[in-house]
Amino acid sequence: MSLLTLTDLTVTFGPFTALDHIDLTIDEGELRFLIGPNGAGKTTLIDTITGRTRPTHGTITFDGTDITRTPEHRIVRHGIGRTFQTSVVFEELTVIENVDLAASSHLTPWRLLRRAPTTPPDALAVLDRVDLTHLAHRPAATLSHGQRQWLEIAMLLAQKPRLLLLDEPVAGMNAEERTRTGELLTHIAHDHTIVVIEHDMDFLRRYAHQVTVLHEGRILTHGDITTVQNDPQVREVYLGRTTPQKATT
Ligand SMILES: Nc1ncnc2c1ncn2[C@@H]1O[C@H](COP(=O)(O)OP(=O)(O)OP(=O)(O)O)[C@@H](O)[C@H]1O
Ligand SMILES: [Mg+2]
Repeated sequence: MSLLTLTDLTVTFGPFTALDHIDLTIDEGELRFLIGPNGAGKTTLIDTITGRTRPTHGTITFDGTDITRTPEHRIVRHGIGRTFQTSVVFEELTVIENVDLAASSHLTPWRLLRRAPTTPPDALAVLDRVDLTHLAHRPAATLSHGQRQWLEIAMLLAQKPRLLLLDEPVAGMNAEERTRTGELLTHIAHDHTIVVIEHDMDFLRRYAHQVTVLHEGRILTHGDITTVQNDPQVREVYLGRTTPQKATT
């Protein structure tokens, strides 16, 4: 069943068209990869789904509800969570405090005050899921780049979203961190719907099933990774330009 449906979605910034009549459907339980060259409109697509950017035209339906004009904070409550291309963790707080804060973000000040002073079991479970339990009481500032990305995923999971939108989660990671992230995403996808923006072809070959290619604000093609990789148009506009060696192996 379709969880997210974008219909004829268009976003313009002044005279510039960032998203150009996008039709896209994400089914419940899918792990979908979104690729495309720099400036293709990938982040804008996530910004628009999450209410940060308003579409000029078209509709966004989530779980049967039209959320096209719903404010950003209410879209989070509908169950759509996202990460950003840049980090949003609080450096001076510990890892578990960051998760706890994210988990409490939906509470009213009154309920927040009445809450027990101990860490909720949910926050600990989420930390365990991303394998950061051993670092729970370290300040977030001491984490490696990879660990910080996993913390951000934990913070997202703490908000119990149904749909996770991840903007380049493996950017800047080393090979081992990429593998761990790929396994983590595969694991999380068992009980969540996930859309991942990613550029790295090796990563896509290992973990991607369904891939949507965006180019100049339009959907160029969609299919399994082999089909997409062999598509001549994709090779020309995306693979041929940004990762030529990898794309032809
Ligand atoms: N707020 C804005 N105002 C004007 N132009 C914008 C704005 N946000 C994005 N754009 C433009 O829209 C286009 C798409 O940007 P977007 O950030 O969505 O690309 P992207 O596919 O995420 O690229 P990257 O791979 O570099 O992250 C770019 O040309 C960008 O300059
Ligand atoms: Mg981007």
